[in-house]
Order: sequence, then C-alpha cells, then structure tokens
Amino acid sequence: MDRIVYVHGQFVPEKEARIGLFDRGFLFGDAIYEVTAVISGRMIDNDLHLNRLDRSLKELAIPPAFSRADIVHVQTELIARNTLQSGIVYLQVSRGEADRDFFYSDTLAPRLVGFTQEKTLIGTKAQQHGITVDLVDDPRWHRRDIKTTMLLGQVMAKQAARSRGFEDVWMVEDGVVTEGASSTAHVITAEGRILTRAASQATLPGCTQRAIARLCAAEGLQIEERVFTPEDAQGAAEAFQTSASSLVTPVVRIGSRVIGDGTPGPMTRKLQALYLEAAGIPV
Ligand code: PDD
Repeated sequence: MDRIVYVHGQFVPEKEARIGLFDRGFLFGDAIYEVTAVISGRMIDNDLHLNRLDRSLKELAIPPAFSRADIVHVQTELIARNTLQSGIVYLQVSRGEADRDFFYSDTLAPRLVGFTQEKTLIGTKAQQHGITVDLVDDPRWHRRDIKTTMLLGQVMAKQAARSRGFEDVWMVEDGVVTEGASSTAHVITAEGRILTRAASQATLPGCTQRAIARLCAAEGLQIEERVFTPEDAQGAAEAFQTSASSLVTPVVRIGSRVIGDGTPGPMTRKLQALYLEAAGIPV
C-alpha cells in the first residue's frame, strides 16, 4: 500500500511522511482528531465532524489555524488522490512543535495531518449479526467531550475485552454506562424508547448519534436523553452502538446477558436503514 497522506501542508506518499519528534501530539497527546466515514467516495455527516473539531480546538485553546475550506480541501484531495470509495478520512491537529515543556506558548503553529483508510462500512458481519460487548470500569480522564488522541484507556480496555472473547466494551462510571470505547452506547426499552446519554463532559458528543437523533425526530421515534445503568442495559429489549467507523451496530450480548433473542432487534434494524437512506445509500 502506498497511500498519499497529508502532513503539514503537503500531500506525500506515506513512506515519506514525517512527524516531528517534538510534536506535542507525540510527547503529550496534546492533539485532537476526527474520523469521517466515506461511502461511495462521499463524506458522511462531515459538517458535524468539523463542528466538533472546532469545538475540541477551542476547549484546548489550540488556535484555529486552518479554515474550514482548507480542511475540506485536504479531506477531498485525500479521498480523490487515494480513489477511496469506502472507508474513513482521518484528521489530526496537534498544538505544534516545541522543546518538551508542560507549559505551552500560544505562539506555536498547530500541525494538521490527515490520511485515508479503506474499510468496509456497509453490510459488515457486525452490522448484520450484532456484536458482544463487555462492561468495564471507565479508566479515562474527565474531559471525554474533547476528542483528544489520548486513547490508551480505550486501547487497553478493548484489547483486554477481546482476550475475554468480546468484540468491544461499554464503559461504566458511578453506576452508569458512559459510552462505548470508540462509540456511543444506546439501549431500547421494552416500551420502545431509545435511551442515550445527554451531552456532558463524561462522553464524546457523537456525530452519528446526532444524525440518528434528527432522523428519529423526523420519524416520530422517541429518544430519551438520560443515563442508564449496566442493569438497564442488560435488561433492555435492544441495544446498539454508533460511530463514524461502524455506523449503527447492533449489540446482542452485554457481559453475560443476551439482549432480546440474541439477534439484532427490529428498531435497531430500522435505524440502520434510516441512517443509510439519509446518507443516500440504497437499502
Ligand atoms: N470514535 N465515543 C467515543 C469515545 C468515540 O471514540 C467515538 C468515535 C464515538 C462516536 O462518535 P462519532 O459518531 O462522531 O464517530 C463516541 C472514532 C470513530 C474513532 O476513534 O475511531
């Protein structure tokens, strides 16, 4: 594979891409990122992702050094130059390069990098049959609303869950589910209400979740924004998770408990179809 990637103002073959040793993203995880789905060569919900990118920069006081038009240009060029049909386009902005020091100067020049990655996004085994998730204590810092590159808590949690035979994890804190390790967690009650956490510093505001919420409002489906416990989740009629890289993925087992009859439920199926339809994909 020899992708064309974007590093600090230039499109270069991936083998030639170089990140500075003193980049604060590398030394401190002082960087934020976004992942946008690409289906049939088109970006999905990209405005929502770029709004969140702006917000993450603001929360970390990283100066907005790149215009939205510049960023969209980088994304569309990456997709075109790599003839990407299905996958993701990844963007990362670090605070910049400087000698290692916890304190930072506000004169640093932020660094933008980006790349594409091929991935099947539609009709995956996970989407068709659902996945199993384990419940684990949330190991992360307290500003999960900022999409930073500090993902070691999630890396460790996912890897450990895999070794226990699960496909993913949902994280739990103070007796309630926060979110998936790289997704938003949702459950559907026996009465057909979709439960999703309201926005707070405890979770990342999911763009896919936002898009689903709009579709639900248009369809008259009820979403209740509230916390839910591991027991609520394990006793739910249906469960699913959402993210740019997995879209709407049914969850058919949570810890030791099978959800419903162990197959994706009808409302989850409906949400999968609505999401693809809204993205202009024939279902
Ligand atoms: N992750 N919560 C967390 C912790 C996430 O990392 C993600 C996405 C989401 C869902 O957000 P969205 O719907 O905007 O993708 C929720 C991306 C896909 C990743 O890290 O690869």
